[in-house]
Amino acid sequence: MNTVIRKISDAGAIEQASDILRAGGLVAFPTETVYGLGGNALSRDAAQKIYSAKGRPSDNPLIVHIAELGDVYKLASDVPPKAELLMHAFWPGPMTLIFNKKLLVPPETTGGLDTVAIRMPSHPGALSLIKESGIYIAAPSANTSGRPSPTTAIHVANDLSSRIDMILDGGPVGIGIESTIVDMTGDTPAILRPGFITKKMLEEIIGHVDIDPAIIRPDPAARPKAPGMKYTHYAPKGDLTIVAHGEGSASDACDGAAYDIGEDAASHAGAKERVAARINEMIRDAEARGLKCAILTTAENKNLYTGGEIILLGDSASGPTVAARLYSALRTCDDIGADMILSESFSENEIGGAVMNRLMKAAGQQIIYV
Ligand code: TXA
Ligand code: MG
Repeated sequence: MNTVIRKISDAGAIEQASDILRAGGLVAFPTETVYGLGGNALSRDAAQKIYSAKGRPSDNPLIVHIAELGDVYKLASDVPPKAELLMHAFWPGPMTLIFNKKLLVPPETTGGLDTVAIRMPSHPGALSLIKESGIYIAAPSANTSGRPSPTTAIHVANDLSSRIDMILDGGPVGIGIESTIVDMTGDTPAILRPGFITKKMLEEIIGHVDIDPAIIRPDPAARPKAPGMKYTHYAPKGDLTIVAHGEGSASDACDGAAYDIGEDAASHAGAKERVAARINEMIRDAEARGLKCAILTTAENKNLYTGGEIILLGDSASGPTVAARLYSALRTCDDIGADMILSESFSENEIGGAVMNRLMKAAGQQIIYV
């Protein structure tokens, strides 16, 4: 299949993409979080095509993207008042809500579940596409299953060229990691995947929100509620380890324990240097064994390193820039053929919690404390 790539701002591009979607084809498009791989959410065939293009297990449900708030009531069988408060506060935007579904939504779209994930993206191109096509668009991240989510059209093309009908190129995305998922079907709303909309932001609107324990302490035997969280995700091909200062366990990554080396360095005198010394030592050993090594760091710290290929996640360890570059950096590790990748850890303030959640997953929870 020939994959057409067009700039989303080109005259007629959104109309062409809409025709493809209405005819049952697949179109990748930018959102404010990551690029999505869209198909008609109410078509069993389109959902199956999405799974096969991505090489994704068909029990991993898709998010349905809408452009009008009222569309929630057409897809969800009940919409609790707290969900309505969240919709008004954060839509359009990087938040996905889980509801009990109406029969209209086929089981192929929801991975066989009785619930449906719904999101109204804020990216103007994504909203235009949903409106112009006149359908609900089912869209997982537009990567091959297991690869980091795409934050540019080139990432999408590298993974899915010749497997989908069209890519709408809207340039690099703004946020860089996927939406916050909140399950609204239980007595207490629960975060299934952290993102740009934090627990604190949600709680300011609706009071207490739970976090799925599987996010805080990944347990291979546990069955996470968001089926996608059980698969290996975001993983670069090389072996990735996070090197952090202080003491802790993997669970601290989501608990807000301070082991950021960028922002809080003053209260942890010498922390950056200790982390860098350990990374330099590990790289020396690995390079002596002939391994290609990469370091994930920021401009602020890069001069502390004496070996390995430096891959920059931003100027300093502030959450938003690191989030925007994380997936692209993981792809760069693959492009340069890195065997061993060592990463600093980052502040868990605001979006930083979601950054550490993705980084810990990419590292298979491997973290060393120095
Ligand atoms: O930011 C985003 O959410 C992006 C853009 C394209 O909108 N989409 C995205 O989709 O990240 P995907 O398919 O890569 O991740 C969707 C996650 C998966 O972990 C899936 O298991 C979970 O949402 N999910 C979908 N429907 C669900 C449901 N009914 N119950 C629980 N989890 C669900
Ligand atoms: Mg994904």
